Amino acid sequence: MKNNLGKTQIGIFDSGLGGLSVWSEVVRLMPNQPTIYFADAANCPYGGKTEDEIFQLTEKGIKWLLKSGARIIIIACNTATGAAIEQLRAKYPEVPFVGIEPAIKKAVENSSNGIIGIMATKFTLQSKKYLNTKNRYAKNCKVIEQVGEGLVELVENDEINSDKTTNLLIKYLTPMIEEGADTLVLGCTHYPFLKERIKEITNNKIEIIDPAPYVVKHTIDIMGNYSLEKENGCRFKYQFHSTKSAKHSHYIRKRALEIINGNGKENNN
Ligand code: DGL
Repeated sequence: MKNNLGKTQIGIFDSGLGGLSVWSEVVRLMPNQPTIYFADAANCPYGGKTEDEIFQLTEKGIKWLLKSGARIIIIACNTATGAAIEQLRAKYPEVPFVGIEPAIKKAVENSSNGIIGIMATKFTLQSKKYLNTKNRYAKNCKVIEQVGEGLVELVENDEINSDKTTNLLIKYLTPMIEEGADTLVLGCTHYPFLKERIKEITNNKIEIIDPAPYVVKHTIDIMGNYSLEKENGCRFKYQFHSTKSAKHSHYIRKRALEIINGNGKENNN
């Protein structure tokens, strides 16, 4: 059952282009792997919506991905994972789902002084999933939480290097630095696009944890466990779909290719 990776189309879901930070890891670790990327950009951001709203929107995207040939699905969105993954697993037991959550355990292991910062959406920081994980792994740590209000929109609009982004990052990260955090969890898949900015603003004083590589390694393990060898007939190696418009789908493809070809403004290394 092992190593049928080349024949399996992976569906990747996000509210927008943040999930490209996970998609680019899929491409790095599984270069022959066909992928189909779904961005619900017409409804982005998800972070301020209710659990029910996020579930409904996520399920719609998942149905589209399944119809389009995805055979394993990465929910490359912390917010959608928190709101929907358990219900989706119960409703679609035949589909392997991989989610992404703020990497608290990794941060606790990494921190030397037990002070960690977590930046995520409002929904994620209030979700049961996050609160349970925090209780489980970070009981003996000081956890400084920050909602990254406004950052998702700035990443979507390619305003990564704007003053607005700088000012928001300074506002959000200064209290963490002042309180002595030595580790920062990027709890939203849009934030790795800001990694270089965060490094500059924090003078490299904080270790940044992006869970994307762990998520993809976990996906590879799951693909080994499932029998996914059937050809799905996908025509293109990398497909991109945005709920906003066909033009926006092309825009996402462009941003994606910029990341993997190393000539984009975002560099996730
Ligand atoms: N990229 C998402 C996440 O990981 C969603 C952000 C949003 O739509 O608010 O949480």
